Amino acid sequence: MLQRLALVPLLTILLLHFVRRVQPAETVLKTALTDQPFNQFQEVNKPCQDGCLEHGNCNRELGECECPFGLSGPTCQTQLYPACRTTPTTQRIFLGRMAPRNCYCYREVMKAMCLPEEETRCATHTMQLWDALFCFEKVGVPEDQQISELPEKMDDPSYRWGKGTTVREVVDGVPKLRREIQMLSQPPSVEDTSRTVPLSRCERRCSERGVCQDWGQQTICLCFAGFRRPDCSQLVEEGAEPACPNGCGGRGKCVAGFCKCEPPYWGIGCSRSTAYEPVPGSVAYPYFPSLKIYMYDIPPNIVGPHQFEDGNGGIHPQYESFLRFQGLFLNDVSGIRTENPHEANLFYIPAFTYYSSSNLGDPTGAAVRAVNWVAATFPFFNRTGGRDHFVLLSGDRGACYLKTLPQTENLIRVTHFGYERPNITDMGPLVTNTEYGCFKAGRDVVMPPYVKSNVAGIQGVRAKLEEPGGAEALLAGKDTLLFFSGDIRHNEPEYSGGVRQALALLLANTSYPDVVFKGGYMMMGMGEYESLLRRSKFCLAPYGHGWGIRLIHAITHACIPVIIQDKVRQPFEDILHYPDFSVRVSKAELPRLVEILRAVPEPDLLRMIKENSRVYRAFLWQPELGGLAYNITIASLRRRLSHVRGDLYEAGVRRS
Ligand SMILES: *[C@@H]1O[C@H](CO)[C@@H](O)[C@H](O)[C@H]1NC(C)=O
Ligand SMILES: *[C@@H]1O[C@H](CO)[C@@H](O)[C@H](O)[C@H]1NC(C)=O
Ligand SMILES: *[C@@H]1O[C@H](CO)[C@@H](O)[C@H](O)[C@H]1NC(C)=O
Ligand SMILES: *[C@@H]1O[C@H](CO)[C@@H](O)[C@H](O)[C@H]1NC(C)=O
Repeated sequence: MLQRLALVPLLTILLLHFVRRVQPAETVLKTALTDQPFNQFQEVNKPCQDGCLEHGNCNRELGECECPFGLSGPTCQTQLYPACRTTPTTQRIFLGRMAPRNCYCYREVMKAMCLPEEETRCATHTMQLWDALFCFEKVGVPEDQQISELPEKMDDPSYRWGKGTTVREVVDGVPKLRREIQMLSQPPSVEDTSRTVPLSRCERRCSERGVCQDWGQQTICLCFAGFRRPDCSQLVEEGAEPACPNGCGGRGKCVAGFCKCEPPYWGIGCSRSTAYEPVPGSVAYPYFPSLKIYMYDIPPNIVGPHQFEDGNGGIHPQYESFLRFQGLFLNDVSGIRTENPHEANLFYIPAFTYYSSSNLGDPTGAAVRAVNWVAATFPFFNRTGGRDHFVLLSGDRGACYLKTLPQTENLIRVTHFGYERPNITDMGPLVTNTEYGCFKAGRDVVMPPYVKSNVAGIQGVRAKLEEPGGAEALLAGKDTLLFFSGDIRHNEPEYSGGVRQALALLLANTSYPDVVFKGGYMMMGMGEYESLLRRSKFCLAPYGHGWGIRLIHAITHACIPVIIQDKVRQPFEDILHYPDFSVRVSKAELPRLVEILRAVPEPDLLRMIKENSRVYRAFLWQPELGGLAYNITIASLRRRLSHVRGDLYEAGVRRS
C-alpha cells in the first residue's frame, strides 16, 4: 500500500519529465534511451579537384578549393573581376582606393560586393568610398579585354574617364540611393587620383604589384599588401605587418594577403586540419559542459582582410583588437576552439569588419555576406536564427551602424562600444536600430579596444606599485588633480557624447593650477602625455568616436580614470567592479567635476590606485604585458551560454 502510494507521484513526475523532454528533441532522447550513439564523430575528408593546390588550399570539410580574393573555381583559375587586373596576365588583384581602376572593374566589384537592395552598404572599403573613385575605360574595346592599367597619357583620346556618383532618388515613395558611373568630359587631375601615374614611370613597373605615385622629386611604388618597396618584388618579412591572419600560423606562406597553406592545412591562418561528421546513426548536439567555439572558414571572396589604401598593408592599431582576438583564438590550446561544428555551442563569424565604421565604411555589407554564406553552407545558423553566433566589430562606434536585418538582428556583437541608448537620432541615418541603439545588455559583449602601449613605461609603473609603499609614494608624487589632452571637435556635437566640448567651455574661463586640460589634436608628444598621466590623480576618460582608449591610458599609468560616458557600458563591466578603480561622473554633473574630484578622500585614492594596478591586465590584449583581454572576452562569451542553451532548447536542438 505504502509502496503503491509512493509510486503514483513518482510516475507522475516521470511522465511529466518525459512529456517535457520528448517534444523538443525526440531523436536525442530516443538515442539516450535505446543506447544508440550520440555525439560520436568521425573524420571527413572531402577531396578537392586536382590542381586546387597550385593556387589554393583544399577545404576538406566542404571539398572545395579555397582561393585568394578575385580567383575562384575548382582550381582557382576563374578570374572574378578580370577588368581589375593591371596586365592581361596578372592573376591576383588588389582593390585599394587610391589609384583609379577600369570602370568595368568597379561595376563588377560593386555588383558582387554591395548589398543588392542597398548599394551603399558594401563588403569592401573601397566601394564604400564610391564618390571619391575615378575610373577609365578604353573606347571600342570589349568588356572582357578591359584592364586596369592606367593609360600612358591621361588625355589619350582612346580612353574615357568616369567618376563614382551616388544618385538620390525616390522609388514608389521610398528614398533610395543608387550608384552609377558618371562619364567625364576630361580626365581627372593628378591630385584627384592621389598622384597616381602610369606604372612605366616607376622602377620595374612596381613589379605589377603596386601603384606608381608621382611625389614631385621622385616617383614611388606603393606596394600591395604583402609586398615591399622599393619595387614591390619582395614579400614583406614575416611579422612585419599583419598581411595575413595569424601569420599563417607557421603552417603556410603569406602570399599577398592570402595564406597558401602546406597541405593538409587550410582555412583562416591555415588553422584547420581536421573535419568531422557524426558517425552514421549517431545524433549530434551541442556539448554544454564547457564552451566550444567553432570558427567558420569563410572564403576570402566572400569576406576577408581586404585592402583599404593601395599601398599600405598595415592597419592602424586602434582597429587591431579584431586581429588580436583572432590571433589568440587561433592559437588557443585550452580546448574552447573546436574544429567540429556539431559539438560547438557558440559560432564565430569572422567578418573582417575591422575597418568598417562611420568614416571608413559600414560593417553591414560584410556581415550580411558572411552570414549569407554561413547560413547557406551549414545548418547551424538557421536553427536559432543566429542567436548562438558572434561577430567582432572593432571599427568606429562599434556595432552602431550594423543594420538590423534578418541576417544580423540576433548576432552577438563583440565590440568595444557599449552604447545602450535607444532611439539614437544624432549619429546620422546609418543608425537604424531604434530598439536599443548599439548594444544590447545580456546579449552583446564589450571588449576593450586595442591600445598600442609603451611596454617599458607600463612595466616601470607596475614595478613601482609593487614595491612596499610604492603606491603611497606614487600618489604623493602626483601634483596634478585632473588631466586631459585630446581632440574636442566643437562642430561635431555627437563626438564624445558632447562631453569634451562641454568641458572645454566650462574650463575656458577658469584656471585651476592643478588641472591640465588641453583641447586639440595631438597637443603634446607621447613622452609628455605619458608623464602627465603618471603625475595626475585623475585622468579624464570620455569616449571620442566610440573607442574609449583613455580609460586604458589612465589605468596603465596608475591614474584613476574619470569615466564620463552616459549610457555607455564599459569593457567587461559585468565582470569587473568599476567603482573599485574608477570614478564615474555623469554629463549633468560636469559643472561640479573639479569639486567632486577634490572631495575624494586620500585613502580612497590610494585604494583605487592599488586596485587599478590589479585590474589593468584585463584591458590589455598583449600577452607580453600579461594582457587578459582575450581571456575575459572568452569568459564573457561563456556567460552567454545560458541564453544560447535556452535558444537551442526552444529550437528543439537540445534537451532541457
Ligand atoms: C589565457 O588564456 C590562454 C588560452 O586559453 C591560456 O593559455 C592562459 O593561461 C590564460 N591566461 C591566464 C592568466 O589565465
Ligand atoms: C537558411 O535560411 C536561409 C534563408 O531562409 C536559406 O536561404 C538557407 O538556404 C537556409 N540554410 C539551410 C542550410 O537550409
Ligand atoms: C523611440 O521613439 C519612438 C518614436 O518616437 C517612441 O515611440 C518609442 O517609445 C521610443 N523608444 C524608446 C525606448 O524610447
Ligand atoms: C568666457 O569668456 C569670454 C570672454 O570674456 C566670453 O565671451 C565667454 O562667453 C565666456 N565663456 C563662458 C563659458 O563663460
